[in-house]
Amino acid sequence: MVRLRCNWHYVPEEIRYRACVAIPKKDRDRAEYLRDELIRHDSLYFGQDAPQISDAEYDQLKRELIQIEEKYPELASSDSPTLSVGGVVAATFDPVTHRIPMTSLDNAMDESELLAWGERMARSLPGERLQFVCELKIDGLALSIRYEAGKLSQAATRGDGVTGEDVTANVRTINGVPKELPSGAPAVFEVRGEVYMSIAAFEKLRDQKLRENELRVAEGKKPDSVPVNPRNAGAGSLRQKNAQVTAERDLSFWAYQLGEVVGGGDDQFHHQTLDTLRGFGFPVNPAIERVDGIDAVIAYCQKWQEQRHDLPYEIDGVVVKIDDLAQRERLGFTSRAPRWAIAFKFPPEEKNTILNDIQVSIGRTGRATPFAVLEPVFVGGSTVSMATLHNREQVRLKDVRPGDTVVVRKAGDVIPEVVGPVLALRKKGAKQWDFPDFCPCPLNTPLVQADGEADTRCVEPSCPYQRDQRIIHFASRGGMDIEGLGEKTVFALTDAGFVSDFSDLYSLTVEQLLQLDGFAEISATNLVAAISSSKSRPLPKLLTALGVKHLGPTASDSLARAFGSLNAIMNASVEELSSIDGIGEIVATSITNWFAVESNRAIIEKLRDAGVDFGQVIIRDAPQVLKGKAVVVSGTLTRWNRVEAEEAIKDRGGKSPGSVSAKTFALVVGAEPGASKLTKATELKVPILDEDGFAYLLETGELPKQ
Ligand code: IVH
Repeated sequence: MVRLRCNWHYVPEEIRYRACVAIPKKDRDRAEYLRDELIRHDSLYFGQDAPQISDAEYDQLKRELIQIEEKYPELASSDSPTLSVGGVVAATFDPVTHRIPMTSLDNAMDESELLAWGERMARSLPGERLQFVCELKIDGLALSIRYEAGKLSQAATRGDGVTGEDVTANVRTINGVPKELPSGAPAVFEVRGEVYMSIAAFEKLRDQKLRENELRVAEGKKPDSVPVNPRNAGAGSLRQKNAQVTAERDLSFWAYQLGEVVGGGDDQFHHQTLDTLRGFGFPVNPAIERVDGIDAVIAYCQKWQEQRHDLPYEIDGVVVKIDDLAQRERLGFTSRAPRWAIAFKFPPEEKNTILNDIQVSIGRTGRATPFAVLEPVFVGGSTVSMATLHNREQVRLKDVRPGDTVVVRKAGDVIPEVVGPVLALRKKGAKQWDFPDFCPCPLNTPLVQADGEADTRCVEPSCPYQRDQRIIHFASRGGMDIEGLGEKTVFALTDAGFVSDFSDLYSLTVEQLLQLDGFAEISATNLVAAISSSKSRPLPKLLTALGVKHLGPTASDSLARAFGSLNAIMNASVEELSSIDGIGEIVATSITNWFAVESNRAIIEKLRDAGVDFGQVIIRDAPQVLKGKAVVVSGTLTRWNRVEAEEAIKDRGGKSPGSVSAKTFALVVGAEPGASKLTKATELKVPILDEDGFAYLLETGELPKQ
């Protein structure tokens, strides 16, 4: 039987039906479908902590239903999920009825929607000054904490907005949540805010779960589900039957709103409420700002959209609230949410997609890295169709299988990652993926995993895939930085047989390049010129470009400084190499092993013949007074520019890292130094020197006497 979703309960059924038929069947069916889906996802998300779709996808469904209901108000039943905040009350905890409902917020998905909200506010409050409080939208769980006679008496989740779950015992374990209020606090004081898990705490928990799974898998048991993000981990941790488990989970809390208050609460402005909360000892987010006008609101949103990844916790937007509480009163609520606030949502960084396949790629050192071939999905600002799966173990522990629906995450500039499978959507009979036994290259040689190593490798020296990757690495930014020599050209060059190792690049001709697809006279001439000009790259670049295992840019820099030329490095022993600061035995051994291989020596000779600069032996006359000492430079100095200051430290055997730590010997500050370095140095009692102090340090290796 067709369910009638009209809201007119007093109207006889036939009339109700006639009224409804004016609505196209397509829209009616769609609304019904959306409503059922939203209810199902609410239950998965809130009731079982096991979401099957991302927040963005959920929001999309909800917005579509809101649009249909706005077009056909008679379709909007009183039990529509568009009217509730989504949560359901789980059976495990005692129910708590919120005396003032915990509503949700309307969303603005982009700047134009935020501007439209600002215009609505201006229209509703004509001629009045509009001040907004902008807050970070913490990606956690809404919580109400009630204090009676100054004592924490009850804490509850939001639930469906009317009834939540009693999580008092668990909330008592959260650091930073006051158990008592200072004297003079109102008789009843209900604080609302967000419980969240920091990224560091989430990573710790996830790694611990993965390690536990390792044991489970070894014992032949199924791996447990692993939390996919801090919010998921936070929700799971708060809703533990045993409060001891919650206590171990390192949850945090930001307060941002009041609920019921009896005997106090005379603030006129929201920013005063936040000050009161701070004064009572609640954590209030320091990024909150009061701003004038909607343009300043937009600037705040843009700023935090860019800087969201600098925070140690996750945010998914900005909440904008009218500051004046009397204005709020006049604006009131819609059936769903307050009119006086809006959530500006950042573009989603997590989406679900289908894992079409798992393949392995072979790196320049032969490492076989599994990667996910995904149904392309737009996430975190770009389309993602591939993502690394790191190694054999990670695939096993995450238990992702071809055909699975998986959560894909691309946060900021970070490379895309497959977070894990949506187990509830796994198809019956989905087979576990087995790591291949053979290299995917045409030689098809066996892949090996050495004892105790996480990586599986192709150990065939003539593997063409490794060769191509070595050439790509040689030409890359961090190496010889050859402009115009990308992956595609390298593949074309090796396929054509023009290049079989990177030293062959220097004998390439314009005529050869012209035989390749996509090259014309100008592009071919340019590439040959770019290759030629790379011959004069400084020694550390050349060293990095060789692609010696474990030898990265920092170690290359130290070696170049200490030995001065490639010849000296080639002929150095493991002991000589490892006596250099920053060069351990593993790197030193890897270097001598590399130069001991005859084909590598041959490559070096070809590079020499081609005229590649192998560096000059530097006669170092600076006394090594800073050997083993780390000196950080911050701000603008007058006698040295930044590079010169760092060189001066390194020339004397010291190091000049980019940040201050307990191991820092001194921090040198010029004009406008970085605030975080200064604070850190003060905290850690690291000596802070001015320019004169720095000059003294360079001369003597000691701190000037105070
Ligand atoms: S105010 C009536 N402020 O976002 C106003 N909510 O989508 C109630 N949230 O339910 C909420 N940070 O769980 C507010 N600074 C903030 C917030 C915030 C995160 C969450 C909260 C709320 C949801 C609305």
